[in-house]
Amino acid sequence: MRIWTIANQKGGVGKTTTTLALGSRLAHRGFRVLLLDLDPHASMTQALGLAAEPPTPGVLELFDEPPQPIAGLRRSTPVEGLSLIAGQPGLATLERRAGQRPGLGRALGVALSDVAHAYDYALLDCPPTLGLLMVNALAAADRLIVPTQTEPLAQFGLQGIARTAAMVSRSRARPLPISILPTLFDKRTRVATDTLAEMRTRFEAQSWNDAVPVDTRLRDIHHLLGPDGNDSQARGLPAYSRALDWLLASDHLDEVAS
Ligand SMILES: Nc1ncnc2c1ncn2[C@@H]1O[C@H](COP(=O)(O)OP(=O)(O)OP(=O)(O)O)[C@@H](O)[C@H]1O
Ligand SMILES: [Mg+2]
Repeated sequence: MRIWTIANQKGGVGKTTTTLALGSRLAHRGFRVLLLDLDPHASMTQALGLAAEPPTPGVLELFDEPPQPIAGLRRSTPVEGLSLIAGQPGLATLERRAGQRPGLGRALGVALSDVAHAYDYALLDCPPTLGLLMVNALAAADRLIVPTQTEPLAQFGLQGIARTAAMVSRSRARPLPISILPTLFDKRTRVATDTLAEMRTRFEAQSWNDAVPVDTRLRDIHHLLGPDGNDSQARGLPAYSRALDWLLASDHLDEVAS
C-alpha cells in the first residue's frame, strides 16, 4: 500500500476536492483505496454522505488508548473499491491530549500498517492547520501532494509546507517526495498564468506541468466521484486523471531509484 498525504497549511486550496477526485479516479481504475478524513470539519465525510449526528467512530478512535482496530472503523462509500475512515469534530481536541502522551505522532502510520495488505492506496485529507494530525499524516506518507492555488499569495503556503516536509524528512529514515498540484487555475487571468510559470521555474520536476482548472462541476459530488465519462464540457475531472497519471509515474520513478 502506498500512502499519499494531501496537505497545505493554506485553507480552501482544493485539498478535499483533490483527495476525492484522485481517490475515485484510482478506484475507477480498479485500485483498492482507503480515504482518511483528518479534518475536524469532516468536509470529506460530509461530501460522501457519511457524516452522522452523533458522529460515528472514525479517525479519532485510532488515537484511543489502546487504539481501536482500524479494520472495524472502515465505511463503504458510493464508489466501489473506495472506503473511508470518517472525520469527526472531536479531532479538534486531539492536540490537547497529545501533550500528555508520547508516541502519538506515529499513531496513524502504525494503524495503517494493519490494513496495508487490503489496499493499494491510502489517501489522507489533512486539515489546513499544522498540528498533531498533519504531523502524523506526513510521518506516515510515501508522497506529499500539495494542491496549490495559482495566485501570488499561494507561494507562502508552499514555503510553509515545504519547510514542514523537510523537517519530517529529517526526523525519519526516508525522504518525503513532494508533488505540487496547481489547482483552481483560471487561464484567462494574467496573474494565474504568471504564477503557474513561476511555480514551474522554482519547483521544477516537483511541480505538475499542468493545472486543474476552475470547473464548477467539481462542486457536484456525483460528478466528482463519477467516471471520467465523455462530457466534452467537463475539464476538471480529465485534469485530475492526468494529474493521477503524473503521480503514478512519479511513484514508479521513485521505486526504480530506490
Ligand atoms: N477546480 C475547482 N473548480 C471549482 N471549484 C473548486 C475547484 N476545486 C475546489 N473547488 C471548490 O472550492 C472550495 C474549496 O475546496 P476544498 O474544500 O477542496 O478545499 P480545501 O483545501 O479542502 O479546504 P479546507 O482548507 O477548508 O479543508 C469548495 O467549495 C470546492 O468545491
Ligand atoms: Mg478540506
